[in-house]
Amino acid sequence: MSAQEIQDDREPEFARPGEATVAPRTKLPQHESLPETAKQIVDDETMLDGNSRLNLATFVGTWMDDQARQVYEAAFDKNMIDKDEYPQTAAIEDRCWHMLADLWNAPDAEASIGTSTIGSSEACMLAGLAFKRRWQHARRAEGKDVSKPNLVMSSAVQVCWEKFCNYFDVEPRLVPISEDHKTLDGHDLQRYVDENTIGVVAIMGVTYTGMYEPVAQIAKALDDIQTATGLDIPIHVDGASGAMIAPFLQPDLEWDFRLERVHSISTSGHKYGLVYPGLGWVVWRDKKWLPDDLVFQVSYLGGSMPTFALNFSRPGAQVLLQYYVFLRLGFDGFRTVQQEAQDTALFLSGGIAKIGAFDLWNDGSDIPVFAWRLKAGHTQNWNLYHLQDRLRMKGWLVPAYPMPDDLTDLTVQRIVVRNGLSRDLAAELLADIETETAYLDGLESPMPVEAQHPAFHH
Ligand SMILES: Cc1ncc(COP(=O)(O)O)c(C=O)c1O
Repeated sequence: MSAQEIQDDREPEFARPGEATVAPRTKLPQHESLPETAKQIVDDETMLDGNSRLNLATFVGTWMDDQARQVYEAAFDKNMIDKDEYPQTAAIEDRCWHMLADLWNAPDAEASIGTSTIGSSEACMLAGLAFKRRWQHARRAEGKDVSKPNLVMSSAVQVCWEKFCNYFDVEPRLVPISEDHKTLDGHDLQRYVDENTIGVVAIMGVTYTGMYEPVAQIAKALDDIQTATGLDIPIHVDGASGAMIAPFLQPDLEWDFRLERVHSISTSGHKYGLVYPGLGWVVWRDKKWLPDDLVFQVSYLGGSMPTFALNFSRPGAQVLLQYYVFLRLGFDGFRTVQQEAQDTALFLSGGIAKIGAFDLWNDGSDIPVFAWRLKAGHTQNWNLYHLQDRLRMKGWLVPAYPMPDDLTDLTVQRIVVRNGLSRDLAAELLADIETETAYLDGLESPMPVEAQHPAFHH
């Protein structure tokens, strides 16, 4: 230890060099600092972040039990791509997606293929790439043009699909949602699909509202289109949230591999898969729907193992956490956790509906997520952004935002109920919503609206 460091160590903590000065922001500091000092600076600055448990905007897991933390701590150095170095982690990844294939009713789980990803976004991109490549192969085999692929989906898709289309040169064909068609539901689908359509995306748990898109109805519309035109268009189910809710809470709903037309399904392990951020999954019902020329080989136990991913290195710990949660909860445990979240969502949406100022867009009976709007004509003095700000003052993050294209005049506010929002906390939240609504209703003149804009993006 240098004399300078010994001296630093003895100095009062917040008067030390480093802590007593402004931490560098854009340039790597010239000198090292004591680990305690560096940690203190990071801790202090992140103290200003919100409390993740009070964040009702995110779908992403913010609570796991102590054993999960231990699994995490023991594994955070594992790199998922090092299959040869961590063969058991690789084997566990395999087990997890097989379990998902089975949960999603793959007709022959052994014939399916899947992988973990960093999240649903990567999983969706892989599914989109498989669609595009399959379509290109089929078109080339017939000597047809492959320069204008398009993907059909609702205007309320999550931004990852817009990214996919932008990054991989696919035309997005967005079917607008409306008051009459709150989700993509198959109506008028024949106006959007053609010989260049690589697939249709159906969302189980629309990000804006939490509603399920009726996958069976969409599949039926595509069946009719096939009968009329011969076009055989596959479906990818973006089940970022719903693919880990529907199997437990709506087991009779047919949205998954029970529908022949569903080629692939993705989900976020880090949403209702109940794992901390950094995990997604995608499964194809049959290997034949994942073209071979998208797959790369990495070394594994002296041989090789197929991989399909956008990233190379990424954390392996989340995959182990997923396996831990699968073992820990089993089917019954998952059902209990998800049912509790749904009961809490229904409790909250019921309470919010009773306040009198709001109309529910939906009530949380698909995934435990719901949105509401101000009742037409209720007030000229305030809007949902004001309510969002009032709640923020109490620590709650309950985002208000405009609906997507064609409904952008409509502002909604949304709550995502996750594992960890206890009924007590939910009751506190409802009481705060009631109090703040009463406060805003009591105003005698309008709140300022200048510079109001959504701080939240999908
Ligand atoms: C329907 C849907 N798809 C995809 C995503 C992207 O998921 P991730 O954040 O895991 O990349 C989300 C995220 O909210 C989503 O709701």
